[in-house]
Amino acid sequence: MHRPRRLRANENIREMTSETHLSVANLIYPVFICDGTGVEQPIRTLPGQSRLSVDVLVEKISVWKKLGLKNYALFPKIDDAKKDSVATEALNDNGLLPTAIKLIKQKHPDVCLFTDIALDPYSSDGHDGIVKNGEILNDETVQILAKMAVKQASWGADWVCPSDMMDFRVDAIREALDDAGFTKTSILSYTAKYASSFYGPFREALDSAPKAGDKKTYQMDFRNRKEALREMDLDILEGADMVMVKPGLPYLDIVADLKAHSSVPVAVYNVSGEYAMLHFAAQAGALDLEKTMMECMYAFRRAGADVILTYFAPEVAKFLKTL
Ligand code: PBG
Repeated sequence: MHRPRRLRANENIREMTSETHLSVANLIYPVFICDGTGVEQPIRTLPGQSRLSVDVLVEKISVWKKLGLKNYALFPKIDDAKKDSVATEALNDNGLLPTAIKLIKQKHPDVCLFTDIALDPYSSDGHDGIVKNGEILNDETVQILAKMAVKQASWGADWVCPSDMMDFRVDAIREALDDAGFTKTSILSYTAKYASSFYGPFREALDSAPKAGDKKTYQMDFRNRKEALREMDLDILEGADMVMVKPGLPYLDIVADLKAHSSVPVAVYNVSGEYAMLHFAAQAGALDLEKTMMECMYAFRRAGADVILTYFAPEVAKFLKTL
């Protein structure tokens, strides 16, 4: 007689035999930075998340580090006046991002910094690439992305993370980094990034929504699964040190596929819309926030994610500390 319930009978046996483990070391916390000092600007559609000026962020990292959180992805909110069609501000050595990287590294040399490579936060068109007559240009964009990578590496980023979905950008970025002597800078590629409607709150946080059209000619079609493996083969061949799936929750099949076939670690991005869903459902009394949050984290790990980018990172870290 088989009675699977025997392995669920009590806490001890469940703890002893659980198949999935989660540690604060698996987490990367995406944070939004803005100009000024002493600024903490709540983001309406991301409850609990704010745009932070660099001084405030540096202070907060001291607190988050005590929870064990040592990995941060930085997203700068650029003033509209500084945006143009070729994202000039993305290469400014005195801009917001370099200022943030340098200050964080100065105060917290033990943190690992992940920086995003794509034009959208700096582009007056709100697209990840250069727009010409309604078309997103691939090769011209890739040249700028490679320059961004070298700049970010020179500012002190540990990992550069192309999130743009242009073809062969990982190859161009790796070559540019190596040519400039940044052989130790790693690449986390947004390998399977889908044209998703779950990015809404993020685009509000950065005011980075496309001015015209959508991102379907470069981000992936959510009806496709095999295509993610093709993107992964190319990214690994081109030199990606880690591959990512984005969004997370509706794409766990893709996470599992990549994990099954990847020779490098797999990350998943638990995106802004997924975070907002849980928060607003909890506010309405429909869900228990902490319990559903942890269920999602374990679901990512169960699907095969080695690394999770999540706005829940401090809350998850707190929870893990009390275990
Ligand atoms: C920009 C970028 C986006 C996100 C991360 N990098 C938005 C987009 O592609 O429009 C979304 C993250 C989130 O929703 O949390 N290339």
